[in-house]
Amino acid sequence: MAVNTILLDFSVDPSLTKTDGSFTVLSTNIENVLRDFLTGLKTISSFELEGSLIKIFTANRGTVVNLRIYSNGLVTLNIDYYKGEKQEPLLTLENSHALERDLKERVVEIKRTQALPILTRGTFMRYYQTSDERILEYDIDNLVFEEVTPYQKVQIVHSKTLGNMLVLDDLQNIAESDLIYTETLMQRGKENYKDKEIVILGGGDGALLYELLKEKPKEVIMLEIDDVVMKACAKYMRSICGDVLDNYSGANYKIIVGDCMKSLEQYIKEGRKFDYIFGDLTDVPISEDHSEQLWAFINKILQMSCKVLKPTGKFMTHLTGTSCPEAVEQYSQYLQKLQPSVKYTMDRAFVPSFLEEWVFCQVSFSNSGPAE
Ligand SMILES: C[S@@+](CC[C@H](N)C(=O)[O-])C[C@H]1O[C@@H](n2cnc3c(N)ncnc32)[C@H](O)[C@@H]1O
Repeated sequence: MAVNTILLDFSVDPSLTKTDGSFTVLSTNIENVLRDFLTGLKTISSFELEGSLIKIFTANRGTVVNLRIYSNGLVTLNIDYYKGEKQEPLLTLENSHALERDLKERVVEIKRTQALPILTRGTFMRYYQTSDERILEYDIDNLVFEEVTPYQKVQIVHSKTLGNMLVLDDLQNIAESDLIYTETLMQRGKENYKDKEIVILGGGDGALLYELLKEKPKEVIMLEIDDVVMKACAKYMRSICGDVLDNYSGANYKIIVGDCMKSLEQYIKEGRKFDYIFGDLTDVPISEDHSEQLWAFINKILQMSCKVLKPTGKFMTHLTGTSCPEAVEQYSQYLQKLQPSVKYTMDRAFVPSFLEEWVFCQVSFSNSGPAE
């Protein structure tokens, strides 16, 4: 079951929406076309709001139509109807294009029309967003797993083309199609992880841990706050994490369930140093201190990570989409203010499940490294 929403907009000459009479002629002409597509159409209400005319209609199968004519010539038409699992759609995409075409042909006042793809609501989520908050529609056909934890809403959904996808708080994190994400994050082929000591901040999907272990490091410690993410990925995302999340320790790795900030503080106190720290946290990392502002928190993670890096060490992280250059610039500014000073490189890759290109950053010390 789902609610299908058809959204159409068009424009007419503003002189045609100035008087009550012309409003009425236009709305009647539109109504006549609608009648051919929606049986049982009847007007329920008609009123003026801030200079626009609003008409609400109902039609068969519980359809509600909302027509609004603005005085600047903009006309919007929203059609909502309920579609049971076994029911045929009331208006297919083809029908909605035919409606658009008929409106243009038969309502002479209309100059420009535009129909959005039909939106499906009230079923499992299939719309996510780009990093600059534009809508993306996925071919999701199944909600595989869902649990709300004390930290976030954890979902695994199935996409016909991307495989299973981990979605945290309605943001897509990683899919079975995304090896390129992990390989670009770790700069596979450019970095040598053999016998290295590595920390992963976050990384609950296990993909980075799995790929790093293939490179024979001395030890990888993964600091992940949410046990549920790991349990769900161990079960439903095995093609990206293998068996590394089945046990929280192995010959050369361990997983500590908790806030990575606490472990970082501990390592700083102990004077422990690593070759690589990976920032593989959610785009909005979970902070137990809710007063921490996002950018201040991201900067704090960066500063603390630098304190536990060996002089030759590197901090590697994912940033955001290339459609968000301001965020990349903001991060660069934090890097430029770090003491001791650092140098950094950026890489980018198109990530299949993000449906956009993503920026990755590699940070190392400019000179001999931090004061010991
Ligand atoms: C799934 S990973 C991968 C990130 C992902 N590729 C993306 O698109 O953002 C992110 C993980 O960071 C974890 N996380 C967030 N804040 C954390 C914190 N303060 N300490 C430890 N783990 C944290 C989340 O629970 C999540 O599992």
